[in-house]
Amino acid sequence: MSGAGQALGAWPTDGISYGGDYNPEQWDWDVILEDMRLMRRAGVDLVTLGVFSWVVHEPRDGEFDFSWLDRMLDLLHEHGISVDLATPTAAPPMWLQHAHPEILPEDEWGRRRAPGGRLGWCASSPVFREVALRIVERLAEHVAGHPAVRLWHVSNELGGGNGRCHCAESTRSFQEWVEARYGTVEAVNEAWGMAFWGNSFSAFEEIQTPRGGTNHNPGQQLDYERFSSDELLGHYRAERAILKKWTPEVPVTTNFMVGLGPDVVDYARWAPEMDVVGNDHYTFGPDPRRHQELAFSGDRMRGISGGGPWMLMEHATGASSWHAINQPKLPGEMIRHAVGHVARGSDSVMFFQWRASRAGIEQFHSAMLPHAGAETRVFEDVVRLGGIVERLREVRGSRVVGARVALLHDNEAGWALRSGLKPNNRIGYADTARAIHDALFDRAVTVDVVPPWTTLDAYAVVVVPGLFLVSDEHAAAVADYVAGGGTVLVTWFSGIVDGTNTVRLGGYPGAFRDLLGASSEQIHPLTDDETVLLDAGWSAKRWTELVRVDDAQVVASYATGPNAGHPAVTRRSVGRGTAWYLSTELEPDGLGALLERILEETGVAAVTHASSGVEAVRRGGDGQSFLFLINHTDAEAWAEATGEDLLTGTVHRGRVDLAAGAVAVIREEPR
Ligand code: GAL
Repeated sequence: MSGAGQALGAWPTDGISYGGDYNPEQWDWDVILEDMRLMRRAGVDLVTLGVFSWVVHEPRDGEFDFSWLDRMLDLLHEHGISVDLATPTAAPPMWLQHAHPEILPEDEWGRRRAPGGRLGWCASSPVFREVALRIVERLAEHVAGHPAVRLWHVSNELGGGNGRCHCAESTRSFQEWVEARYGTVEAVNEAWGMAFWGNSFSAFEEIQTPRGGTNHNPGQQLDYERFSSDELLGHYRAERAILKKWTPEVPVTTNFMVGLGPDVVDYARWAPEMDVVGNDHYTFGPDPRRHQELAFSGDRMRGISGGGPWMLMEHATGASSWHAINQPKLPGEMIRHAVGHVARGSDSVMFFQWRASRAGIEQFHSAMLPHAGAETRVFEDVVRLGGIVERLREVRGSRVVGARVALLHDNEAGWALRSGLKPNNRIGYADTARAIHDALFDRAVTVDVVPPWTTLDAYAVVVVPGLFLVSDEHAAAVADYVAGGGTVLVTWFSGIVDGTNTVRLGGYPGAFRDLLGASSEQIHPLTDDETVLLDAGWSAKRWTELVRVDDAQVVASYATGPNAGHPAVTRRSVGRGTAWYLSTELEPDGLGALLERILEETGVAAVTHASSGVEAVRRGGDGQSFLFLINHTDAEAWAEATGEDLLTGTVHRGRVDLAAGAVAVIREEPR
């Protein structure tokens, strides 16, 4: 796989990094000294420090004091713990928010946010930019050369709280952004289709951010999302330039929030700006398949990082605290989740946060060291996990291997889907992607979730799952891939609009119609309690289309429902390649059967044979091969493998038995 992102030259620690966010501003020095002892006991070797420390470094406007930071850095260094040092711009001090309320973001109704919380700033605010860069410069100059500082962590989750702003500065910047993109007002009107409802602009000054109280044009909405992402990236770049000036040897990153997508900013397009890509990932307790959603995000991180190792910057030992009901992880689940991230390419295991806060908004968020202290199951597991991470040292730097299926994912397609009004307005962008990933996960087939500009040649199968927006260039790349002998599965509501969010005419899915040799003239969505049957015996829901075949074989037709008798699934041979179209949302059995046929035709095999519920992923490189096995069930399970389990030292010949909930990482013998 090729793509965005760069490998980190010098990883911040020797092995797989272990630790988490450390917010000692909240604690006295005696507690901090206890932290040092307990971190060593747990094997922590990297902490993210200073995320919320702006007011500590600059207690009053222009008065700087780094004495607390100096002591923290020295102490951590003495204890052998490296630092991922945050620039503190996620936490603008109260003095700043009160002196300059104009930096606070405004919502779509023009309401300015109250001071407090975090990320209380607008990315287009010149006032904020100036004070933010001043603290970043002072900080970078001050710590330059400190041996503990091994990584820069720019701000925190940029966009998480300040992702969209509608203030006067944002409006002005948006107008400039639009002008730079389109050149003339006429071109904007054309691109966004402003003639409809007679909304054409006569001057750039009339263009506003999509504010509340009216319907907005989908083209404008999509461009506003792009603009907002670009503004935040601009902030990142400005901070990075200063960090590179003072500490060119220290890599720079920021923590992403990659889940199913669309995300608040366009991480795949941000990734080339990072020395290493890092992710914060939180599972949702009530989701029974949360381990698979975790795998999806890991496969996406790998796609974003160009296949190289990435950093798990934050996850949770137990419950988060922002849901209505926050349940802790089940016994053993934390270890399965941590190993699951490593299996999919992370070279770090980091948490939010080291010690549970006693006060503050997140006082009930789980931590490595809970309120109850060190004599707890959670802390025992944290110590155990530290041991596991240590035993996985030799895995660092290896890459996930054997992914022969690519799933195309593009944030812009998700933004476009949620703009305007659609035939079924309850479709989530990643619904199809996740259903297909889920089915492949259950069959132990490794999938790279990649942006559509990825080189596709090496894949046996490319899935285009509900990729609502696709550019001409990316659609052509898929067609070239098929012409070169590849197999593509295009699903419903893909290739519908172009880069300006304008519908492609002549039948759906416009961008792929010729390639598929089939198209649909009408979408007939289903209500939540309707289903249809296909003549292959598969049932389907939510979406059907009136499909016409020009040059393709009909694999399955609708047997019931509004389009009974018409094609539902088609297959076209294109030279040595094959193009499949799926026009409806198959239930898991049918989807599994269809995918099995495609996998069989293309010779894509499971990572290994294993009993149901076992996650299997392989990392390798330089003649080494590591098979990760995770038993997500509460029963005994097995997998075929030969080699030594790095976690226990046991040598297995042909078969590994996995106790309920157990994990194993097998150093495989050369095959
Ligand atoms: C992350 C954030 C952390 C912490 C964590 C737990 O999104 O970066 O600072 O808030 O969530 O809620």
